[in-house]
Amino acid sequence: MEALRNYFLPPAKTAIAEQYDALFWFVHISSLVLTIAIVIAIIYFIIKYRRKSENDVTPVITHNNKLEVTWSVIPLILCLVLFGWGFQTYVDMSTAPDDAYEVNVTAQKWLWRFQYKSGASTTGELHVPAGRPVKLIMSSQDVIHSFFVPDFRIKQDVVPGRYTQVWFNAREPGESIVFCTEYCGTDHSNMMAKVIVHEPEEFAKWIEENSGSATKPTDLAPAEWGEQLVQQNACDTCHSVDGSQLTGPTWQGKFGSQEQLTDGSSVTVDENYIRESILEPGANIVQGYQNVMPSYQGQLNDEQISAIVEYIKTLK
Ligand code: CUA
Repeated sequence: MEALRNYFLPPAKTAIAEQYDALFWFVHISSLVLTIAIVIAIIYFIIKYRRKSENDVTPVITHNNKLEVTWSVIPLILCLVLFGWGFQTYVDMSTAPDDAYEVNVTAQKWLWRFQYKSGASTTGELHVPAGRPVKLIMSSQDVIHSFFVPDFRIKQDVVPGRYTQVWFNAREPGESIVFCTEYCGTDHSNMMAKVIVHEPEEFAKWIEENSGSATKPTDLAPAEWGEQLVQQNACDTCHSVDGSQLTGPTWQGKFGSQEQLTDGSSVTVDENYIRESILEPGANIVQGYQNVMPSYQGQLNDEQISAIVEYIKTLK
């Protein structure tokens, strides 16, 4: 049974997800039972009431009260059960408990940013404590996106110019994948993030370490830290490091090269050009590319930008 359940649905990592699945299976199995009963009745009637001779006459039957009441009342009860159950689940899913931990979510083409009360912020990774309700207050910088975590059975549109909310309570530490499930342009299918659920003490530690000014971990070389930052900030959604063609220019062999810009001039890709492109992406666009990159002003400090430059230098 467990194997069958996992075959059809992703693991249910919240209590709501289980409630949701129970309803799903109820609809599924009752439909299956009804379908089988109807098909059996059809086959039985075909055989039993087939025309046996040329002189067969169809009997005239006007109605049958017992039968009509039965086939009206049973589906009515079934529909009322579905309504009550579905409504209760919907209410539970859409009302966050008062003590929920709040995280602000910003969606933009094509990444997810998360801002915590402590001042910490992450891109592409949502860190949360296990066993505590978490409420996401979400908005979009550009077009409609949709925040979907299959493991939690939650999905909510993220709309520019207004806030939407969704909440969950992940039981166990672990990782779950976030998809964007509203088509939002070229890299929609790559607009993913991870929910990382920590033990509560570990989460408190994480928050403490990631708040305030971000500085280089002592055990990493600048280029290694740069590589980490590139992943954390989802730069690799649009910039490949192996020469392959994505939404933005590849970084392979980019440092020191000459680039043609959209205004016809050319530029040498050096520290200043990379820095400008991170903070003010629209200022000087490489020919053949669109002005679609979000600014990282306020997201990356100078030390972090230098580390990313060091990383790009290593991509020969
Ligand atoms: Cu964002 Cu699809």
